[in-house]
Parts: sequence; C-alpha cells; structure tokens
Amino acid sequence: MNLRRAVFPVAGYGTRFLPASKAIPKELLPIVDKPAVQYVVEEAVAAGVETAIFVTAEGKSAIEDHFDRNLRLETFLAERGKRDLLDVVRQVGAMVQVVAVRQKEALGLGHAVLQAAPVLGDEPFAVLLGDDIIIGQPPAIGRLAELALETGAPVIAVMEVSPAEISHYGCIAGEEVSAGVWRVRDLVEKPDPAHAPSNLAIIGRYVLTPAVLQALAATPPDRGGEIQLTEGLRRTLATGPVYACTFPGKRFDAGNKADFLRATVEIALDHPELGAGFRRMLEDLFVKAEKT
Ligand code: UTP
Repeated sequence: MNLRRAVFPVAGYGTRFLPASKAIPKELLPIVDKPAVQYVVEEAVAAGVETAIFVTAEGKSAIEDHFDRNLRLETFLAERGKRDLLDVVRQVGAMVQVVAVRQKEALGLGHAVLQAAPVLGDEPFAVLLGDDIIIGQPPAIGRLAELALETGAPVIAVMEVSPAEISHYGCIAGEEVSAGVWRVRDLVEKPDPAHAPSNLAIIGRYVLTPAVLQALAATPPDRGGEIQLTEGLRRTLATGPVYACTFPGKRFDAGNKADFLRATVEIALDHPELGAGFRRMLEDLFVKAEKT
C-alpha cells in the first residue's frame, strides 16, 4: 500500500521514566547512538512513509527539531572537514517531511491521534508509538500496510504474551483467518488476566482509516478522562471489519526502564562498530561478577 503519512503520538509525560523524562522527551532518550523515536521513524520510512506527523506537547519540540536540518551544526562540521558526521546529521534531517500538531492536554492515545485529523486527508495512515521499537526487515508497519491494502480495513499489530502480562496491554478477541492474521471481533483495554479473551496483545503499530477517526470523534473519555484508541477501534467494528496481524522483527517496550535496558544491550551487541567490543566488555563483567 502506498502509505504516505504516519502519525507519531509523542505528547505523553513519560512518567515511567521520571526523572530522566522531566526536561527531555522520553522519545529522545538514546538507545546506543540514536534517540528511541528515530528507530520508529526509520521503520516507517523503510515502509514508504514520506510525511511524519508528530503529535507533540509543550516542552517536546526537540523531537521535530531532531528531524529538521541544523544549518549551524552542518556548517560547523563542514568547516572542520568532519564529512562522516555531516552525512549522519544531514541524513536525519532529510529522511522525512515533518508536520507537528499539538495535543494541548494529555487526554489519551485516541485523543492524540484525533489531533492529527486536520492534516490527514481521506487516505489510510499509519500510527506508530515512539515507545515500541521494532527492529527487523521487512519493516513491521509495512506488513500491516500490505494487509490493509488487501482488506481495505484498519489493521492492528498484535503479539502473543503470557497470560500474566496481558493486563498491561489492549487485547483482541477474534478468529484467525490465515496464519498470523485475525478478524477482530472485540477489543478490551488492559483486561483482567482471568477474563482476557486471548493472549494477543495490541502493540503500538496501526494502519487506520478515516472511519476510525470518525469513530474516535464520537468516543467519550473513559473513567480516567482519556479517549482510548482501543475504544475507538472497538466502535469502528460497527461500521466494518478490523484485522490484526503479527509482525516481523524483535520488539522492545522502550517506555519501560527494564526493556529499555534490554533494547540498549541487544542493539549494542548488533552494532557494526561497537558490537564486538561491547560483547567483550560484558563478558569481562560477568567473569568479574562470578569471581566475587
Ligand atoms: P504511554 O502511555 O506509553 O506514554 O503512551 P506516556 O503516557 O508518555 O508514558 P507513561 O505511561 O506516563 O510512562 C504511548 C505513546 O503515546 C503517547 C506517548 O507520548 C507515547 O509515545 N501519548 C500518550 C500521547 O501522545 N498523548 C497521550 O495523551 C498519551
């Protein structure tokens, strides 16, 4: 599918990462040598996305700056002959067209997506959460886009998790219609494990249609005052099918401190320049730890 636009909701407070996220958006915390959100934008670009719509908030404009050009820095690097760094900096500034819209209050993910509606037009669009990093080829969002093209319907990424973990996620109920593809019958946000309809957790990748925006616009806030994307999708079921699919690649929840560390270690081990040295460093640490 020609999926040209992607929405990146990045307006949350990142409370799980305090105090690190007090003045710095958690989406800009580095994983090895790139901010977390750059991995997510790169995935979208690899799937053909040309325009990134960041839903941001007060204090988070450094995110859109990261994907803009920085002419002063470029001049500085050019004058000193630092060609490699200049290329790195230019490439980030050129990877995507940037649009920023504001979510004036953090009223939930569904509310964040709704803020992008005025710049979305009437085509399907991707939504990628900056917390969910998926490393792999082909890009995970590209798999969802293929299925959206085949079905003409919204598509959600899902992943099997243990029954104990399902209460941290949105969850789907549905029939598997082909390997790794489900027609969704219902969606539940953070179910009690005893009553969860499946162990299929909703992961932060979606291909949505204008019908979902219409459903979201009519979705009331939940008891916590937030408009949930899961609830908007549940309401979309009344207007037509919704599909869910698994995706290629390894996923990390970078909004969570422990998984952020796992992402750092695994990505560092695979890094072409740092990997071998980092592996030796870890081995030394374990040897020392065993001796004490
Ligand atoms: P999270 O719930 O993981 O992010 O939402 P959060 O609220 O920033 O983090 P915690 O839970 O307090 O630690 C997933 C993504 O949706 C965005 C967040 O910025 C994050 O990238 N989001 C969430 C919004 O843009 N607006 C919201 O109202 C809520």
